[in-house]
Amino acid sequence: MSSTAGRVSVVGVGPGRSHWCTPAVRDRGAAATDIVGYGPYVDLVETWTSGRLHRSDNRVEADRARHALDLAATGRDVVVVSSGDPGIFAMASALIEQLDAHGDRWRQVDVEVLPGITAAQALASRVGAPLGHDFCVISLSDVLKPWHVITRRLAAAAAADFVIALYNPRSRHRPEQLADAMAVVARHRRPETPVIVGRHVGRDAEQVTIVDLRTFDPTTVDMSTVLIIGSSTTRLLDRPLGVRTYTPRSYPDDGAVPKP
Ligand SMILES: C[S@@+](CC[C@H](N)C(=O)[O-])C[C@H]1O[C@@H](n2cnc3c(N)ncnc32)[C@H](O)[C@@H]1O
Repeated sequence: MSSTAGRVSVVGVGPGRSHWCTPAVRDRGAAATDIVGYGPYVDLVETWTSGRLHRSDNRVEADRARHALDLAATGRDVVVVSSGDPGIFAMASALIEQLDAHGDRWRQVDVEVLPGITAAQALASRVGAPLGHDFCVISLSDVLKPWHVITRRLAAAAAADFVIALYNPRSRHRPEQLADAMAVVARHRRPETPVIVGRHVGRDAEQVTIVDLRTFDPTTVDMSTVLIIGSSTTRLLDRPLGVRTYTPRSYPDDGAVPKP
């Protein structure tokens, strides 16, 4: 490894709306010699960089990470783009996993992570403050973890009365699993518990609706959707649009999780 090794910044461009991307991320994109990422995310930064663009397929995270690190090892100034926040189900851990696996190979490369607005935050802001108390974030994708682990975590989170944000909720390859996941949660929640459905949040095609566990329809959901399932204390306001729901900052001190 030469002493002229460059840098890799793993950045989050936010959920899609360009002014939701931080100035720090934009500055790094503008200065970079190379932009590496899944094609649609590279498209998002194309207009504010003169760096060389390296588009790759969505399923090759490890290859993409090694490619970025190898470029930086030759002295290049590399930006790896993720949607939302790069540390949440995205490239930051995929890249650090490569550093971990390959020890000394990229020791001289300067690696940093620049945060972005994650999908759950963006959706929450659209409807009020459903994440105002304890919450957890669970990916329903079973590509990198077994389904039985997912359902076990869902059951535990639901039993503990967390607000639950669900990422990667439903794909063409697993159209039925979302209904099974919601059934697990419903065992611990009242039927009228709010479910906030956000599709393409922050993009031109944005659709945000609030339903409840009874009326939730899994077929309205795809991989461009994030869900927030309320806890026992999440409340709805009688307002037609905008700020309509929140989870209070306080929680009853009897500690008892209400039974559905
Ligand atoms: C691989 S994860 C990446 C998450 C991303 N790093 C983040 O922090 O938002 C992809 C999932 O994020 C959610 N997602 C990302 N951007 C979204 C958006 N603009 N609107 C709705 N959901 C989004 C969806 O659940 C999608 O299946």
